[in-house]
Amino acid sequence: MTERIEVMGKSHWLLGLVLVSCLVLATQAVGAGHGHERPAKQGILLVAFGSSVPEAQVAFENIDRKVKAAFPGVPVRWAYTSSIIRKKLAKEGKELDSVAVALAKMMDEGFTQVAVQSLHTIRGEEFDDLVHTAYPFKSMPEGIPHLIVGSPLLSNEDDMNKVTAAILANLPKDRRPDEAVVLMGHGTPHPANAVYAALMFHLQRRDPNVFVATVEGSPDINDALEMLKERKLKKAYLVPFMSVAGDHARNDMAGDEADSWKNVLGKAGIQTEAILKGTAEYDNMVEIWLDHLRAVMKHFQ
Ligand code: CO
Repeated sequence: MTERIEVMGKSHWLLGLVLVSCLVLATQAVGAGHGHERPAKQGILLVAFGSSVPEAQVAFENIDRKVKAAFPGVPVRWAYTSSIIRKKLAKEGKELDSVAVALAKMMDEGFTQVAVQSLHTIRGEEFDDLVHTAYPFKSMPEGIPHLIVGSPLLSNEDDMNKVTAAILANLPKDRRPDEAVVLMGHGTPHPANAVYAALMFHLQRRDPNVFVATVEGSPDINDALEMLKERKLKKAYLVPFMSVAGDHARNDMAGDEADSWKNVLGKAGIQTEAILKGTAEYDNMVEIWLDHLRAVMKHFQ
């Protein structure tokens, strides 16, 4: 009996010691070197490739408005990953930050919780670069301790279903079922390029005449042309599957050069009609990006 009490006494003492050390460690972590706890400061950084086409800005403005409405009072910043576009805009007097500069500013301004939301379409090279640029800001002294990168539009099976439904809902109202729709994805040498073919599979289960091709990856417009010919389709709507209807949509898709999609299909006797609207101009698409941002912001509550 006496022995048992003594053992219990010892374990209580040990437990106490463990608790005290935990408290000491926790206090040190919060103090982080300067003996003061920084007040929580939330912010959102929206990251896009960027575009220098003025007409394409409506897509970004739409996202900006929706994000601000969803998170009132939270400062919203922008960064463009393309240095070429940033330089071009700078010449026109428009200053856009890179991800590193935007985060350095937020760090200096004492932001402690930052959602870095990717506005990319797939988890490709651009997204990998964003992750590798953003997360080091978390571990810097006086850095942004709570920094989370939100996923691109098409990141998992749930997104695949939502994106498929959104694309089909956004098709031109006067398009007939025997008319094709060819979506223009960007395409990439990154393994994530496989997502475009997967998207076409999901779309065609519900609408066999919707095709996906890419500018810089596979499938390309010649693959799409073969499929259109096989099905003897005579008309195709050309629709960007990029956040903005920028340079690729206006030139590579709907432009007048011989190798534009419009002309490649036109030469094969297929009539085309281009829709110059980026995915970020459609609210059902923006909602998918917003869901990803909401998931990040939940961690900060
Ligand atoms: Co490009």
